[in-house]
Amino acid sequence: MIEDGKLYLGTSRNPDDSINKGEYLDLGYANRHGLITGATGTGKTVTLQILAESFSNAGVPVFCADVKGDLSGIAAIGEHKDFLEKRARTIGLDPYEYQEFPVIFWDLFGDKGHRVRTTISEMGPLLLARLMDMSEAQEGVLNIAFKLADENGLPLLDMKDLRSLLSYMAGETEKLSAMYGNITKQSLSTIQRGLLVLEQQGAENFFGEPALKIADIMRTTNDGRGAISVLAADKLMMNPRLYATFLLWLLSELFEELPEVGDADKPRLVFFFDEAHLLFDEAPKVLVDRVEQVVRLIRSKGIGVFFVTQNPLDVPETVLSQLGNRIQHALRAYTPREQKAVKVAAETFRPNPAFDCFEAITQLGVGEALVSTLGAKGVPSMVERTLIRPPSSRLGPITEPERAKVMAVSPVAGQYDTDLDRDSAFEMLQRRAAEAAKAEEQERDREEEKEEERPESRRWTLPGYGDDDDEDDRGRSKSSRRRKRSSRSRPGYQRQTVTEAVIKSVARSAATSLGRALVRGILGSLKKGF
Ligand SMILES: Nc1ncnc2c1ncn2[C@@H]1O[C@H](COP(=O)(O)OP(=O)(O)O)[C@@H](O)[C@H]1O
Ligand SMILES: [Mg+2]
Repeated sequence: MIEDGKLYLGTSRNPDDSINKGEYLDLGYANRHGLITGATGTGKTVTLQILAESFSNAGVPVFCADVKGDLSGIAAIGEHKDFLEKRARTIGLDPYEYQEFPVIFWDLFGDKGHRVRTTISEMGPLLLARLMDMSEAQEGVLNIAFKLADENGLPLLDMKDLRSLLSYMAGETEKLSAMYGNITKQSLSTIQRGLLVLEQQGAENFFGEPALKIADIMRTTNDGRGAISVLAADKLMMNPRLYATFLLWLLSELFEELPEVGDADKPRLVFFFDEAHLLFDEAPKVLVDRVEQVVRLIRSKGIGVFFVTQNPLDVPETVLSQLGNRIQHALRAYTPREQKAVKVAAETFRPNPAFDCFEAITQLGVGEALVSTLGAKGVPSMVERTLIRPPSSRLGPITEPERAKVMAVSPVAGQYDTDLDRDSAFEMLQRRAAEAAKAEEQERDREEEKEEERPESRRWTLPGYGDDDDEDDRGRSKSSRRRKRSSRSRPGYQRQTVTEAVIKSVARSAATSLGRALVRGILGSLKKGF
């Protein structure tokens, strides 16, 4: 089903229902992105499935999310079904062969696939703020937290790290505000509460190590087929924000990590973004702009992005205009809003004098679509009414034993199963606190030695230590004084020194440039290779 670098999608028919011609997707233009739209039950998932199959056979790795669990069958060989055979006969697909595909299952929760994790540091403040629906003021504070951590070599791996950093910041809002701009205790505690909510939704599974290696979703098999990474997303969809943010993070990782390739004869990876409306729902303009930028630029990295959603109106115009390959399944046109959507959908196609697009969209059968793809010089083909080919792999879900088997022989089996709790901000801050406390203690001992040599100095106190040198301490032993001091002032004292330690080392790293600040990309995730 691959001819001259083209993937067979299906066969178009004429207005009198006679067979017209095969419709193809040119592999060389697959990095000019695509859009699959249509109402529920019209054939979007099956279209995604046959595209993934064809890309895999052409040696192109695929990443897609399995929103309803009905895409997992792509890992199993197809089963004879009368209606599938009938479709194959109608479109002249002969022989219609069944096939299984090299699938790697992934799951943020680790139940239905290999664990997918990233670190808080790698996700970055922009996406995290989106995930937690932060106000501008809160986002500002989060930015400062990341700056503090980035400049200062404090890895924020999991939620515990971010929490501990925020609580240290809460102890030093004045000092930090002077250095970085306004930080209020109130926004810090709102962020803390937001983190708690996220945790209750199971997001702590997602933050930590080992983090997903991009290379693992770009594998090919020894016989030259592209791996199909299927992300189990049924449970994930209960938190649509987390789902959308995760996919966005993955997209930005691909963008930041991969080198330029220009226009190649086929893409390096094709990324399907199912339920794409979730990406843009209530998204602030700055995020939409960044997404637009990533979609535009990722082309030259050899990545094709295919958005899958019900309605073309779900995708902002700036993004929509970059999606060159279009597959439009049926839409209803009862309400004015629906009519508007159909009109928009119809107008995006290069018209075909043989039929009216608006009318056709409302009349398409299941598994039938209006198709227009990019051809020579990137010109869109005239829209054709196309019967999409039936899948070669199984239609519908695989069983749990089958899934377990696929996972057991996966090339990443065992690599992501166990949590890694590396030294990170949480531990480092604790250690720095202890070191700072020890250093202070030694410093004071030295001061006290001097005091003892010069009794007259006892009249003087050092700022910030409060309880030193009161009258009754005179004549007591050094150790009894120290005991008294530590029992009185410990909690506040410790919190202060931690932040002081952080601030000091920020200053130090800025001075020596040894702790060079990390560089963040368009969507705020970490840039590699610096
Ligand atoms: N290309 C196709 N060939 C044969 N049957 C199809 C095709 N596309 C869709 N169907 C039938 O329609 C059903 C619904 O399609 P699906 O892709 O799940 O819809 P959607 O994702 O738009 O809700 C499928 O389970 C299948 O029975
Ligand atoms: Mg579907």
